[in-house]
Amino acid sequence: MSKEITPGSPYSPVARTLHWITVVVVFGMIPVGLTMSYRGNVLDLWDGLTNTLYSSHKLLGFLLLWLTAGRLAYRLLHGAPPDVPTLAWWEKAASHVVHWLLYGLLLVVPMLGWIGVSLFPALDIFGLFNLPALAKPDEEAAKRVLGIHGKLALTLGALAILHIAAALYHRLIRRDGVMRRMWPGLG
Ligand code: HEM
Ligand code: HEM
Repeated sequence: MSKEITPGSPYSPVARTLHWITVVVVFGMIPVGLTMSYRGNVLDLWDGLTNTLYSSHKLLGFLLLWLTAGRLAYRLLHGAPPDVPTLAWWEKAASHVVHWLLYGLLLVVPMLGWIGVSLFPALDIFGLFNLPALAKPDEEAAKRVLGIHGKLALTLGALAILHIAAALYHRLIRRDGVMRRMWPGLG
């Protein structure tokens, strides 16, 4: 018997779990990225803490890239529940554009980070192993790529804040069940 899909249907437990893991990781990655690059590039402080922050940032970002690839494959195979029917056409369109931009940035930002550390090269993780190299060393190109990486990461953060504001607007003002669709821990 196939499962009934109603307009108020929540996202599947898999989709919700992947969404909330992504939220926690992204909101950890941005402050860690800013702190490590400030300690390294501005304070020129290359101590144990700076190196630990760099290794954690590279490893977590690398894992997030594969998590996002898996999430996108799952999304394309399984789709999403139908939009809440009370949304205007432009609200549906705007939310879809923002969601796909978020997916795009969740792929492009860590890819640029990985390409940047390949070019530098700075692939070492905690002195234990290296990430696979994607390009031959070229420090100037590395700086350019990592500069774009940082700017796009902040764009991802800004877009996520807009997305969260929309979710809170639906929860607190419209009270139309949009937030509930993605809430963790539903049956
Ligand atoms: C979604 C995942 C990621 C996010 C949100 C993110 C975010 C950031 C942010 C906000 C910065 C600081 C930029 C600045 O100082 O202006 C940064 C720097 C950096 N990121 Fe990421 N990052 C991610 C993934 C990665 C990955 C996968 C790698 C490498 C494997 C990486 C390597 C770096 C490096 C090396 C820097 C420092 C650049 C420098 O020292 O100038 N990042 N990242
Ligand atoms: C880094 C932060 C975040 C990212 C990257 C992100 C990303 C996404 C993406 C890509 C989707 C589309 C899912 C799909 O249709 O496949 C989505 C949906 C959703 N997100 Fe987030 N999200 C973030 C944070 C949050 C937060 C903090 C909340 C709640 C306060 C939230 C609430 C929602 C809701 C309610 C939906 C479903 C919208 C609908 O029913 O159309 N998100 N999110």
